Amino acid sequence: MKDLGFSFLSNNSGCSEQEYRTGTDQLQAYRKRLLSVIAAGGYVADEASLNLSDDAALRERVAHKIRDTHTDALKYIIVIGIGGSNLGTKAIYEALVGTYDGLLEERHPKLLFLDTTNPFAFTTIKEIFDAEIVDANEFFINIVSKSGTTTEAMANGGALHAYLHGRFGEVTSRFLITTTEDNALWKEAKAKGMHCLSLPEKVGGRYSVFSAVGLFPLGLAGFDIGALHVGARIGRDLALAEGESPAQRSAIAQYHHWQKGAFIHNTFIFIPRLESVGKWYRQLMGESIGKRHNREGKEVFTGITPIVSIGSTDLHSMAQLFLGGPRDKFTTFLYQKSGMLPVTIPVDSPIDTVRGLSGRTFDQVLKAIYGGALKAYQKNTLPFVEFVFDRIDEESIAAFLQIKMIEMMYLAELMDVNAFDQPSVEDYKSETRKLLGE
Ligand code: PA5
Repeated sequence: MKDLGFSFLSNNSGCSEQEYRTGTDQLQAYRKRLLSVIAAGGYVADEASLNLSDDAALRERVAHKIRDTHTDALKYIIVIGIGGSNLGTKAIYEALVGTYDGLLEERHPKLLFLDTTNPFAFTTIKEIFDAEIVDANEFFINIVSKSGTTTEAMANGGALHAYLHGRFGEVTSRFLITTTEDNALWKEAKAKGMHCLSLPEKVGGRYSVFSAVGLFPLGLAGFDIGALHVGARIGRDLALAEGESPAQRSAIAQYHHWQKGAFIHNTFIFIPRLESVGKWYRQLMGESIGKRHNREGKEVFTGITPIVSIGSTDLHSMAQLFLGGPRDKFTTFLYQKSGMLPVTIPVDSPIDTVRGLSGRTFDQVLKAIYGGALKAYQKNTLPFVEFVFDRIDEESIAAFLQIKMIEMMYLAELMDVNAFDQPSVEDYKSETRKLLGE
Protein backbone atom coordinates (compact mmCIF):
# COMPACT_ATOMS: atom_id res chain seq x y z
CA MET A 1 0.00 0.00 0.00
CA LYS A 2 1.21 3.54 -0.80
CA ASP A 3 2.50 5.62 2.12
CA LEU A 4 -0.33 7.85 3.32
CA GLY A 5 1.56 9.62 6.09
CA PHE A 6 -0.99 8.40 8.64
CA SER A 7 -2.72 5.23 9.77
CA PHE A 8 -6.33 4.54 10.63
CA LEU A 9 -7.31 2.54 13.72
CA SER A 10 -10.83 1.28 14.27
CA ASN A 11 -10.40 -1.29 17.04
CA ASN A 12 -12.35 0.89 19.53
CA SER A 13 -15.17 1.80 17.15
CA GLY A 14 -17.73 -0.33 18.96
CA CYS A 15 -18.59 -1.99 15.67
CA SER A 16 -18.05 -5.74 15.20
CA GLU A 17 -16.41 -7.26 12.12
CA GLN A 18 -19.81 -8.74 11.24
CA GLU A 19 -21.34 -5.24 11.37
CA TYR A 20 -18.53 -3.93 9.16
CA ARG A 21 -19.18 -6.74 6.68
CA THR A 22 -22.90 -5.91 6.57
CA GLY A 23 -22.11 -2.20 6.02
CA THR A 24 -19.55 -3.03 3.34
CA ASP A 25 -22.16 -5.13 1.52
CA GLN A 26 -24.63 -2.24 1.73
CA LEU A 27 -22.04 0.08 0.19
CA GLN A 28 -20.82 -2.28 -2.49
CA ALA A 29 -23.02 -0.94 -5.29
CA TYR A 30 -22.21 2.67 -4.38
CA ARG A 31 -18.47 1.94 -4.26
CA LYS A 32 -18.79 0.57 -7.80
CA ARG A 33 -20.64 3.71 -8.83
CA LEU A 34 -17.79 5.88 -7.49
CA LEU A 35 -15.27 3.76 -9.41
CA SER A 36 -17.32 4.16 -12.57
CA VAL A 37 -17.43 7.96 -12.11
CA ILE A 38 -13.62 7.91 -12.00
CA ALA A 39 -13.35 5.57 -14.98
CA ALA A 40 -15.63 7.87 -17.02
CA GLY A 41 -13.68 11.00 -15.99
CA GLY A 42 -14.97 14.54 -16.51
CA TYR A 43 -17.37 16.62 -14.47
CA VAL A 44 -20.82 15.21 -15.16
CA ALA A 45 -21.76 13.14 -12.11
CA ASP A 46 -22.63 14.49 -8.65
CA GLU A 47 -19.43 12.83 -7.41
CA ALA A 48 -17.32 14.57 -10.09
CA SER A 49 -15.00 16.11 -7.48
CA LEU A 50 -13.33 12.67 -7.39
CA ASN A 51 -11.83 13.44 -10.79
CA LEU A 52 -10.13 16.72 -9.87
CA SER A 53 -6.87 15.07 -8.87
CA ASP A 54 -6.57 13.39 -12.31
CA ASP A 55 -6.97 16.70 -14.12
CA ALA A 56 -3.55 17.63 -15.50
CA ALA A 57 -5.08 20.41 -17.63
CA LEU A 58 -6.49 22.00 -14.47
CA ARG A 59 -3.04 21.91 -12.82
CA GLU A 60 -1.55 23.49 -15.92
CA ARG A 61 -4.17 26.29 -16.02
CA VAL A 62 -3.54 27.05 -12.37
CA ALA A 63 0.25 26.91 -12.80
CA HIS A 64 -0.04 29.28 -15.76
CA LYS A 65 -1.99 31.80 -13.66
CA ILE A 66 0.56 31.45 -10.88
CA ARG A 67 3.37 32.24 -13.32
CA ASP A 68 1.34 35.26 -14.56
CA THR A 69 0.61 36.71 -11.15
CA HIS A 70 3.52 35.74 -8.90
CA THR A 71 5.98 38.49 -8.03
CA ASP A 72 9.19 38.17 -6.02
CA ALA A 73 7.91 40.96 -3.77
CA LEU A 74 4.66 39.13 -2.93
CA LYS A 75 3.90 39.40 0.80
CA TYR A 76 0.17 38.85 1.28
CA ILE A 77 -2.42 36.89 -0.64
CA ILE A 78 -5.91 37.71 0.56
CA VAL A 79 -8.45 34.93 0.00
CA ILE A 80 -11.98 36.32 0.00
CA GLY A 81 -14.61 33.60 0.19
CA ILE A 82 -16.77 31.77 2.71
CA GLY A 83 -17.86 28.19 3.46
CA GLY A 84 -16.78 25.81 0.73
CA SER A 85 -14.91 28.64 -0.93
CA ASN A 86 -12.32 29.07 1.79
CA LEU A 87 -12.51 26.35 4.48
CA GLY A 88 -10.50 23.74 2.55
CA THR A 89 -7.78 26.19 1.58
CA LYS A 90 -7.53 27.44 5.14
CA ALA A 91 -7.44 23.87 6.48
CA ILE A 92 -4.50 22.90 4.26
CA TYR A 93 -2.68 26.20 4.74
CA GLU A 94 -2.82 26.11 8.54
CA ALA A 95 -1.92 22.41 8.59
CA LEU A 96 1.24 23.28 6.66
CA VAL A 97 2.33 26.57 8.24
CA GLY A 98 1.05 26.10 11.79
CA THR A 99 -0.96 28.22 14.17
CA TYR A 100 1.65 30.91 14.88
CA ASP A 101 2.59 31.69 11.31
CA GLY A 102 1.16 35.20 11.65
CA LEU A 103 3.92 36.00 14.14
CA LEU A 104 6.73 34.87 11.83
CA GLU A 105 7.46 38.19 10.17
CA GLU A 106 10.03 36.83 7.74
CA ARG A 107 7.92 34.05 6.19
CA HIS A 108 6.16 35.27 3.03
CA PRO A 109 3.94 35.12 1.07
CA LYS A 110 1.26 34.61 3.68
CA LEU A 111 -2.39 33.81 3.07
CA LEU A 112 -4.92 35.93 4.96
CA PHE A 113 -8.62 35.09 4.89
CA LEU A 114 -11.65 37.38 4.76
CA ASP A 115 -14.89 35.44 5.07
CA THR A 116 -17.65 37.09 7.07
CA THR A 117 -18.29 40.84 6.90
CA ASN A 118 -16.31 41.61 10.00
CA PRO A 119 -15.25 45.27 10.23
CA PHE A 120 -12.50 44.34 12.69
CA ALA A 121 -10.92 41.78 10.34
CA PHE A 122 -11.24 44.11 7.37
CA THR A 123 -9.77 47.08 9.21
CA THR A 124 -6.91 44.97 10.54
CA ILE A 125 -5.99 43.92 7.01
CA LYS A 126 -6.10 47.56 5.94
CA GLU A 127 -3.82 48.46 8.85
CA ILE A 128 -1.38 45.70 7.89
CA PHE A 129 -1.39 46.97 4.32
CA ASP A 130 -0.99 50.62 5.42
CA ALA A 131 2.02 49.67 7.50
CA GLU A 132 3.71 47.10 5.26
CA ILE A 133 2.63 47.41 1.62
CA VAL A 134 4.15 50.11 -0.56
CA ASP A 135 3.75 48.54 -3.99
CA ALA A 136 0.94 46.65 -5.77
CA ASN A 137 3.36 43.78 -6.48
CA GLU A 138 3.40 43.00 -2.78
CA PHE A 139 -0.19 41.72 -2.62
CA PHE A 140 -2.61 39.58 -4.54
CA ILE A 141 -6.37 39.19 -4.04
CA ASN A 142 -8.25 35.98 -4.85
CA ILE A 143 -12.04 36.27 -4.66
CA VAL A 144 -13.62 32.80 -4.58
CA SER A 145 -17.35 32.29 -4.99
CA LYS A 146 -18.85 29.41 -6.91
CA SER A 147 -22.22 31.12 -7.34
CA GLY A 148 -20.71 34.57 -7.70
CA THR A 149 -23.56 36.01 -5.65
CA THR A 150 -22.59 35.35 -2.04
CA THR A 151 -23.18 38.52 -0.03
CA GLU A 152 -20.14 38.28 2.24
CA ALA A 153 -17.67 37.62 -0.59
CA MET A 154 -19.01 40.46 -2.72
CA ALA A 155 -19.03 42.88 0.24
CA ASN A 156 -15.42 42.11 1.20
CA GLY A 157 -14.28 42.09 -2.43
CA GLY A 158 -15.87 45.43 -3.23
CA ALA A 159 -14.60 47.15 -0.10
CA LEU A 160 -11.04 45.81 -0.53
CA HIS A 161 -10.94 46.78 -4.20
CA ALA A 162 -12.02 50.34 -3.32
CA TYR A 163 -9.30 50.64 -0.67
CA LEU A 164 -6.55 49.28 -2.94
CA HIS A 165 -7.69 51.35 -5.91
CA GLY A 166 -7.61 54.44 -3.70
CA ARG A 167 -4.00 53.72 -2.74
CA PHE A 168 -2.47 52.24 -5.87
CA GLY A 169 -4.70 53.26 -8.78
CA GLU A 170 -5.49 50.53 -11.33
CA VAL A 171 -5.23 47.21 -9.46
CA THR A 172 -7.46 44.86 -11.46
CA SER A 173 -4.42 42.83 -12.59
CA ARG A 174 -3.80 42.01 -8.90
CA PHE A 175 -7.21 40.32 -8.61
CA LEU A 176 -8.16 36.79 -9.64
CA ILE A 177 -11.75 35.62 -9.52
CA THR A 178 -12.49 31.92 -9.03
CA THR A 179 -16.07 31.15 -9.96
CA THR A 180 -18.29 29.16 -12.33
CA GLU A 181 -17.72 29.98 -15.97
CA ASP A 182 -20.19 32.40 -17.52
CA ASN A 183 -22.08 33.46 -14.40
CA ALA A 184 -22.57 37.20 -13.70
CA LEU A 185 -19.36 37.50 -11.64
CA TRP A 186 -17.29 35.76 -14.33
CA LYS A 187 -18.62 38.09 -17.01
CA GLU A 188 -18.07 41.21 -14.91
CA ALA A 189 -14.52 40.16 -13.97
CA LYS A 190 -13.64 39.37 -17.59
CA ALA A 191 -15.07 42.70 -18.75
CA LYS A 192 -12.91 44.52 -16.18
CA GLY A 193 -9.77 42.64 -17.22
CA MET A 194 -9.34 40.63 -14.01
CA HIS A 195 -7.75 37.18 -14.05
CA CYS A 196 -10.29 34.34 -13.84
CA LEU A 197 -10.22 30.62 -13.10
CA SER A 198 -13.30 28.45 -13.24
CA LEU A 199 -14.53 25.49 -11.26
CA PRO A 200 -16.91 22.89 -12.69
CA GLU A 201 -20.62 23.35 -12.00
CA LYS A 202 -20.79 19.79 -10.65
CA VAL A 203 -18.13 20.36 -7.98
CA GLY A 204 -19.84 21.70 -4.84
CA GLY A 205 -18.04 24.12 -2.52
CA ARG A 206 -17.31 21.63 0.26
CA TYR A 207 -15.81 19.17 -2.26
CA SER A 208 -13.84 21.80 -4.20
CA VAL A 209 -10.50 22.15 -2.43
CA PHE A 210 -8.61 20.24 -5.16
CA SER A 211 -10.05 22.50 -7.89
CA ALA A 212 -8.77 26.00 -8.68
CA VAL A 213 -10.49 27.05 -5.43
CA GLY A 214 -7.68 25.60 -3.31
CA LEU A 215 -4.93 25.04 -5.86
CA PHE A 216 -4.50 28.65 -6.95
CA PRO A 217 -4.03 30.38 -3.58
CA LEU A 218 -1.99 27.51 -2.13
CA GLY A 219 0.18 27.32 -5.26
CA LEU A 220 0.70 31.08 -5.32
CA ALA A 221 1.77 30.87 -1.68
CA GLY A 222 4.46 28.38 -2.70
CA PHE A 223 2.92 25.02 -1.86
CA ASP A 224 3.24 22.03 -4.16
CA ILE A 225 -0.08 21.63 -5.98
CA GLY A 226 1.18 18.51 -7.77
CA ALA A 227 1.78 16.88 -4.38
CA LEU A 228 -1.74 17.88 -3.26
CA HIS A 229 -3.17 16.00 -6.24
CA VAL A 230 -0.86 13.02 -5.67
CA GLY A 231 -2.05 12.86 -2.05
CA ALA A 232 -5.70 13.13 -3.12
CA ARG A 233 -5.21 10.21 -5.53
CA ILE A 234 -3.52 8.09 -2.86
CA GLY A 235 -6.40 8.84 -0.46
CA ARG A 236 -8.98 8.11 -3.16
CA ASP A 237 -7.42 4.74 -4.05
CA LEU A 238 -7.45 3.66 -0.44
CA ALA A 239 -10.96 4.98 0.23
CA LEU A 240 -12.29 3.02 -2.74
CA ALA A 241 -10.26 -0.14 -2.15
CA GLU A 242 -12.11 -3.36 -1.56
CA GLY A 243 -11.90 -4.42 2.08
CA GLU A 244 -10.03 -2.30 4.60
CA SER A 245 -11.05 1.20 3.51
CA PRO A 246 -10.79 3.82 6.27
CA ALA A 247 -13.51 5.86 4.56
CA GLN A 248 -15.90 2.91 4.57
CA ARG A 249 -15.10 1.76 8.08
CA SER A 250 -15.44 5.26 9.49
CA ALA A 251 -18.77 5.80 7.69
CA ILE A 252 -20.12 2.41 8.73
CA ALA A 253 -19.16 2.93 12.38
CA GLN A 254 -20.76 6.39 12.46
CA TYR A 255 -23.91 5.10 10.81
CA HIS A 256 -24.07 2.20 13.25
CA HIS A 257 -23.87 4.52 16.27
CA TRP A 258 -26.18 7.13 14.74
CA GLN A 259 -28.84 4.42 14.50
CA LYS A 260 -28.35 3.88 18.24
CA GLY A 261 -28.65 7.60 19.10
CA ALA A 262 -25.14 9.05 18.61
CA PHE A 263 -26.33 12.24 16.96
CA ILE A 264 -23.08 14.15 17.58
CA HIS A 265 -19.71 13.61 15.96
CA ASN A 266 -16.68 14.99 17.75
CA THR A 267 -13.43 15.50 15.82
CA PHE A 268 -10.99 15.52 18.74
CA ILE A 269 -7.74 16.94 17.41
CA PHE A 270 -4.48 16.51 19.34
CA ILE A 271 -2.61 18.41 16.61
CA PRO A 272 -3.67 22.06 17.15
CA ARG A 273 -2.66 23.18 13.65
CA LEU A 274 -5.35 20.89 12.28
CA GLU A 275 -8.11 22.86 14.01
CA SER A 276 -9.21 24.30 10.66
CA VAL A 277 -9.31 20.77 9.24
CA GLY A 278 -11.90 20.10 11.94
CA LYS A 279 -13.86 23.17 10.88
CA TRP A 280 -13.68 22.08 7.23
CA TYR A 281 -15.05 18.67 8.26
CA ARG A 282 -17.82 20.41 10.19
CA GLN A 283 -19.08 21.95 6.96
CA LEU A 284 -18.60 18.71 5.05
CA MET A 285 -20.71 16.77 7.53
CA GLY A 286 -23.17 19.55 8.41
CA GLU A 287 -24.14 20.33 4.83
CA SER A 288 -23.82 16.85 3.33
CA ILE A 289 -26.05 14.92 5.70
CA GLY A 290 -28.01 17.57 7.60
CA LYS A 291 -31.20 17.28 5.56
CA ARG A 292 -34.93 17.87 5.87
CA HIS A 293 -35.75 15.36 3.14
CA ASN A 294 -34.32 11.99 2.19
CA ARG A 295 -33.62 11.01 -1.42
CA GLU A 296 -37.21 9.88 -1.90
CA GLY A 297 -38.47 13.31 -0.85
CA LYS A 298 -39.80 12.12 2.52
CA GLU A 299 -39.48 14.59 5.39
CA VAL A 300 -36.85 13.12 7.77
CA PHE A 301 -35.12 16.07 9.51
CA THR A 302 -31.93 14.08 9.81
CA GLY A 303 -28.23 14.65 10.39
CA ILE A 304 -25.30 14.31 12.75
CA THR A 305 -24.07 17.45 14.53
CA PRO A 306 -20.32 17.83 14.01
CA ILE A 307 -18.25 19.43 16.76
CA VAL A 308 -14.51 20.09 17.01
CA SER A 309 -12.39 19.74 20.14
CA ILE A 310 -8.70 20.44 20.61
CA GLY A 311 -6.49 18.20 22.71
CA SER A 312 -5.28 18.47 25.26
CA THR A 313 -6.85 21.93 25.80
CA ASP A 314 -10.47 20.74 25.72
CA LEU A 315 -9.84 17.85 28.09
CA HIS A 316 -9.86 20.69 30.61
CA SER A 317 -13.20 22.09 29.46
CA MET A 318 -15.24 19.34 27.79
CA ALA A 319 -13.96 15.97 29.06
CA GLN A 320 -16.39 16.00 31.98
CA LEU A 321 -19.30 16.22 29.53
CA PHE A 322 -17.79 13.81 27.01
CA LEU A 323 -17.01 11.12 29.58
CA GLY A 324 -19.79 11.64 32.10
CA GLY A 325 -22.58 13.23 30.06
CA PRO A 326 -25.07 11.87 27.50
CA ARG A 327 -23.87 8.91 25.46
CA ASP A 328 -24.78 10.59 22.18
CA LYS A 329 -21.36 11.04 20.55
CA PHE A 330 -19.00 9.24 18.23
CA THR A 331 -15.41 10.51 18.27
CA THR A 332 -12.64 10.65 15.70
CA PHE A 333 -9.25 11.34 17.29
CA LEU A 334 -6.41 12.93 15.28
CA TYR A 335 -2.95 12.52 16.75
CA GLN A 336 0.63 12.88 15.57
CA LYS A 337 3.29 10.59 17.05
CA SER A 338 6.01 13.17 16.81
CA GLY A 339 5.52 16.94 16.79
CA MET A 340 8.78 17.05 14.73
CA LEU A 341 10.37 19.81 16.83
CA PRO A 342 12.18 18.44 19.90
CA VAL A 343 11.34 20.21 23.17
CA THR A 344 12.63 18.73 26.42
CA ILE A 345 11.72 19.54 30.03
CA PRO A 346 14.92 20.19 31.97
CA VAL A 347 15.95 17.75 34.72
CA ASP A 348 16.63 20.55 37.18
CA SER A 349 13.45 22.55 36.55
CA PRO A 350 12.41 24.82 39.45
CA ILE A 351 8.81 24.13 38.40
CA ASP A 352 8.56 20.43 39.12
CA THR A 353 5.42 19.33 40.94
CA VAL A 354 4.48 16.45 38.60
CA ARG A 355 6.48 13.24 39.04
CA GLY A 356 7.90 11.80 35.86
CA LEU A 357 8.07 15.03 33.85
CA SER A 358 11.74 15.75 34.44
CA GLY A 359 13.87 15.08 31.36
CA ARG A 360 10.88 14.06 29.19
CA THR A 361 10.18 15.47 25.73
CA PHE A 362 6.90 17.23 24.94
CA ASP A 363 6.14 14.32 22.57
CA GLN A 364 6.41 11.88 25.47
CA VAL A 365 4.17 14.03 27.68
CA LEU A 366 1.53 14.43 24.97
CA LYS A 367 1.66 10.69 24.30
CA ALA A 368 0.84 10.09 27.97
CA ILE A 369 -2.01 12.63 27.91
CA TYR A 370 -3.40 11.15 24.69
CA GLY A 371 -3.02 7.63 26.06
CA GLY A 372 -4.83 8.75 29.23
CA ALA A 373 -7.71 10.19 27.20
CA LEU A 374 -8.06 6.98 25.15
CA LYS A 375 -8.02 4.85 28.31
CA ALA A 376 -10.77 7.01 29.82
CA TYR A 377 -12.86 6.61 26.65
CA GLN A 378 -12.30 2.84 26.74
CA LYS A 379 -13.19 2.61 30.46
CA ASN A 380 -16.44 4.44 29.74
CA THR A 381 -17.08 2.27 26.62
CA LEU A 382 -17.34 5.33 24.39
CA PRO A 383 -16.82 4.53 20.69
CA PHE A 384 -14.01 6.13 18.69
CA VAL A 385 -11.66 5.74 15.74
CA GLU A 386 -8.18 7.24 15.31
CA PHE A 387 -6.11 8.77 12.54
CA VAL A 388 -2.48 8.74 13.68
CA PHE A 389 -0.15 10.92 11.58
CA ASP A 390 3.56 10.25 11.01
CA ARG A 391 4.00 13.47 9.08
CA ILE A 392 1.94 16.41 7.88
CA ASP A 393 2.76 17.65 4.39
CA GLU A 394 0.90 18.38 1.16
CA GLU A 395 0.51 14.70 0.32
CA SER A 396 -0.64 13.44 3.69
CA ILE A 397 -3.11 16.24 4.38
CA ALA A 398 -4.59 15.94 0.88
CA ALA A 399 -4.96 12.17 1.29
CA PHE A 400 -6.74 12.74 4.59
CA LEU A 401 -9.19 15.31 3.18
CA GLN A 402 -9.96 13.10 0.17
CA ILE A 403 -10.66 10.11 2.42
CA LYS A 404 -13.00 12.24 4.53
CA MET A 405 -14.90 13.47 1.45
CA ILE A 406 -15.44 9.88 0.30
CA GLU A 407 -16.39 8.87 3.85
CA MET A 408 -19.13 11.53 3.69
CA MET A 409 -20.41 10.22 0.36
CA TYR A 410 -20.62 6.72 1.89
CA LEU A 411 -22.32 8.03 5.03
CA ALA A 412 -24.92 9.94 2.99
CA GLU A 413 -25.54 6.78 0.98
CA LEU A 414 -26.19 4.81 4.18
CA MET A 415 -28.41 7.57 5.59
CA ASP A 416 -30.29 7.88 2.28
CA VAL A 417 -29.71 11.62 1.78
CA ASN A 418 -28.22 13.66 -1.04
CA ALA A 419 -24.60 14.48 -0.09
CA PHE A 420 -24.27 17.20 -2.68
CA ASP A 421 -27.04 19.75 -2.22
CA GLN A 422 -27.62 22.37 0.47
CA PRO A 423 -31.14 23.75 -0.07
CA SER A 424 -31.36 25.26 3.41
CA VAL A 425 -28.17 27.32 2.92
CA GLU A 426 -29.75 28.73 -0.23
CA ASP A 427 -32.81 29.68 1.91
CA TYR A 428 -30.79 32.04 4.09
CA LYS A 429 -28.84 33.45 1.14
CA SER A 430 -31.89 34.48 -0.86
CA GLU A 431 -33.60 35.94 2.25
CA THR A 432 -30.46 38.03 2.91
CA ARG A 433 -30.44 39.35 -0.62
CA LYS A 434 -34.13 40.31 -0.27
CA LEU A 435 -33.40 42.21 2.95
CA LEU A 436 -30.61 44.07 1.16
CA GLY A 437 -33.11 45.12 -1.48
CA GLU A 438 -32.35 42.78 -4.39
O1 PA5 B 1 -21.24 24.29 0.45
C1 PA5 B 1 -21.80 25.28 0.04
O2 PA5 B 1 -22.36 25.28 -1.06
C2 PA5 B 1 -21.79 26.60 0.78
O3 PA5 B 1 -21.29 26.55 2.05
C3 PA5 B 1 -20.94 27.56 -0.04
O4 PA5 B 1 -19.66 27.04 -0.18
C4 PA5 B 1 -20.85 28.94 0.56
O5 PA5 B 1 -22.12 29.42 0.84
C5 PA5 B 1 -20.14 29.90 -0.41
O6 PA5 B 1 -20.82 29.92 -1.63
P1 PA5 B 1 -20.15 30.51 -2.91
O7 PA5 B 1 -18.93 29.75 -3.22
O8 PA5 B 1 -21.19 30.40 -3.97
O9 PA5 B 1 -19.82 31.96 -2.61
